[in-house]
Amino acid sequence: MKESILVIGSNGQIGTELVTELRRQYGESNVIATDIKEAHPLLLGTGPFYQVDVLDTHAVADIVRKNNVKQIYLLAALLSATCEQKVKSAWRLNMDGLLGILDIAREEGVKLFWPSSIAVFGPTTPRVNTPQFTITEPNTVYGISKLAGERWCEYYHQKFGVDVRSLRYPGLIGWKSEPGGGTTDYAVHIFHEAIRSHKYVSFLSADTLLPMMYMPDALRATIGIMDVDAERVKIRSSYNVAAMSFTPREIAAEISKHIPDFSISYHPDSRQQIADSWPQSFDDSSARTDWGWKHEFDLVKMTDDMLLHLHQPIAG
Ligand code: SER
Repeated sequence: MKESILVIGSNGQIGTELVTELRRQYGESNVIATDIKEAHPLLLGTGPFYQVDVLDTHAVADIVRKNNVKQIYLLAALLSATCEQKVKSAWRLNMDGLLGILDIAREEGVKLFWPSSIAVFGPTTPRVNTPQFTITEPNTVYGISKLAGERWCEYYHQKFGVDVRSLRYPGLIGWKSEPGGGTTDYAVHIFHEAIRSHKYVSFLSADTLLPMMYMPDALRATIGIMDVDAERVKIRSSYNVAAMSFTPREIAAEISKHIPDFSISYHPDSRQQIADSWPQSFDDSSARTDWGWKHEFDLVKMTDDMLLHLHQPIAG
């Protein structure tokens, strides 16, 4: 029986793009998408889809067995700002979701990808060029769940030999799909508003510097770490992966080069506090050395590409 790849949480910002890319690389019928909601319009008719709750581990295990799934990308989670609003349900989804899938990976011999985040760091972490191994005292529900998740991943690898691989994503920016409930979301919204109304009100202050990554790089990093030989994955908690850092003021200036009458104003809200607890830049030399991570997009190149695509209607 042929082997399949399963993406859980396929409707999200990463999921929609990752499923599309995996189907392009591995064939449509070999990549199974699942989400708690109905299939995303971008994925309709592009391959197998099951509507399933990640917390229903029996249903997920059934899909894994029936389709000979050998790799799982677990993307079902709530992002930082939403987690602060829905503390207990966020914890249940982010944590029980991971533990359930780690057990399936252990029982069924499946390779697992699970995303961590810059949110594992906190106010006591050095914020400039944050090292791979450093103080991790997150003060957000999301960050606590990501840190605990990293510990569980390493534990399942060491105790049970689960081949689990993980990246600490910075803020992710793409034109096909929008994030929801995150602190770095402004860097996506700003493009849509720049095109729609030529102005944007940022919920982070002008000089809030955060690490960011363009989606094509994030997809290459994600599929890249899953594809390398197991012995090259030396860190089984999660790897720092970086590409660029910028502030709302800097991205606005870059957009203004394309849309000269674009204007930005600042109205920081509760997300400012979250952003202020995260790194401004982080050191990803372990990922570069261990398994060859290399980014392609900086702010200039990303802005060009985002505006190019957003000016065109999205093909369904
Ligand atoms: N992009 C995420 C957020 O803002 C962080 O991983 O919540």
